[in-house]
Amino acid sequence: MYVSNLSLHDFRSYTELVLALDPGVTAFVGHNGQGKTNIVEAVAYLGTFSSHRVASDAALVRHGTGGAVVRAKANRGGRETLVELEIVAGKANRARLNRAPVSRTRDVLGIVRSVVFAPEDLELVKGDPQARRRFLDDLLVLLTPRLAGVRSEYDKILRQRGALLKTAGAARRRGSSPDLSTLDVWDRHLAAAGAEITAARIDLLHRLRPQTAQAYEQVSAGQGEAHLGYRSALLGLDSEGEATPEEESALTDVAQLEERLVEAMARVRDKEIDRGVSLVGPHRDDLVLTLGGLPAKGYASHGESWSYALALRLASFDVLSDDDDGGPVLILDDVFAELDVRRRERLATMVGGAEQVLITAAVAEDVPESLRGTRFTVTKGEVTRE
Ligand SMILES: Nc1ncnc2c1ncn2[C@@H]1O[C@H](COP(=O)(O)OP(=O)(O)OP(=O)(O)O)[C@@H](O)[C@H]1O
Ligand SMILES: [Mg+2]
Repeated sequence: MYVSNLSLHDFRSYTELVLALDPGVTAFVGHNGQGKTNIVEAVAYLGTFSSHRVASDAALVRHGTGGAVVRAKANRGGRETLVELEIVAGKANRARLNRAPVSRTRDVLGIVRSVVFAPEDLELVKGDPQARRRFLDDLLVLLTPRLAGVRSEYDKILRQRGALLKTAGAARRRGSSPDLSTLDVWDRHLAAAGAEITAARIDLLHRLRPQTAQAYEQVSAGQGEAHLGYRSALLGLDSEGEATPEEESALTDVAQLEERLVEAMARVRDKEIDRGVSLVGPHRDDLVLTLGGLPAKGYASHGESWSYALALRLASFDVLSDDDDGGPVLILDDVFAELDVRRRERLATMVGGAEQVLITAAVAEDVPESLRGTRFTVTKGEVTRE
């Protein structure tokens, strides 16, 4: 797919921006801090309601204003859909599709599909499990928008259950025996939503795994074998601390997962009451990245970590392309400066399959000549076509 018309109102540094975009390669070039990333961030946000730079929406709204509007026309296989999103700081987003309000904002998720590769992605390899869980979950939202609902339901359950655990812990410390019947009910809720998320993640992992290995091989020119695993308290672990392959394939069964989550919670309940937090479930799991059998985190070099992060994004691109004829928009935010000339050229050949590629770069020369498409100069929020 590609995005043809993009308009921003009070989004980030932009008061008003209207841009006509074409399929193929488009590069936004300009000095630091001029507003390049803000443009591509808006495109990516439309699909997942999530930014690659910030966790909260407040920073997306232009400072001093109450709300932002992002509008884009998604073109997929000759079909046009106008997606409009109003982002109000601290409140739920409001959305319109083809100018008509939608009853659930979630209905617009996944219509504008994109994959962003950015310097922040180094966190996927070097950072905490949270970054990797988010990587999986954002991709799941694009593939199966309904899961965004399950995700927020799960977060709500976690908060409720956490509060109950704290109350029970306080009662226990006072010497009284807490009433645990309500907790049983919340265990079931947590297990139901948690099982759905876990099963979807493992299914996604199966799709990402071969693509990541292949992309890593291409990016690194055959140096090292990238392998993805899933780590969960629920699963039997092999010596590397990953789920064994048999475990993994058994665990795409939601009903079975749900039972195992309930059992696992029963086992750790005492500890949970002591600590006042939920200790099992997808919020504690991790995507394990290994390179040549060693954990990438802690072992991989800077360049290898970069290649790994890039491989994960290219694999996401492949998974989305397999799922949908047009494939997603590929966004490369400020990445060429970080790659050596050989890697740049390899990346340039690998992105050839994308219907639309949006690139940002501070230095025009960093972008390989083979990716010369439409070029915009961005200076103090003024975007001009060269
Ligand atoms: N909510 C906001 N309100 C107003 N201005 C904002 C907001 N968020 C970001 N900005 C401004 O936007 C500018 C950053 O824009 P952006 O990140 O797009 O720059 P860039 O061109 O990608 O730069 P670089 O080359 O350094 O990556 C900064 O000057 C920042 O102060
Ligand atoms: Mg930038």
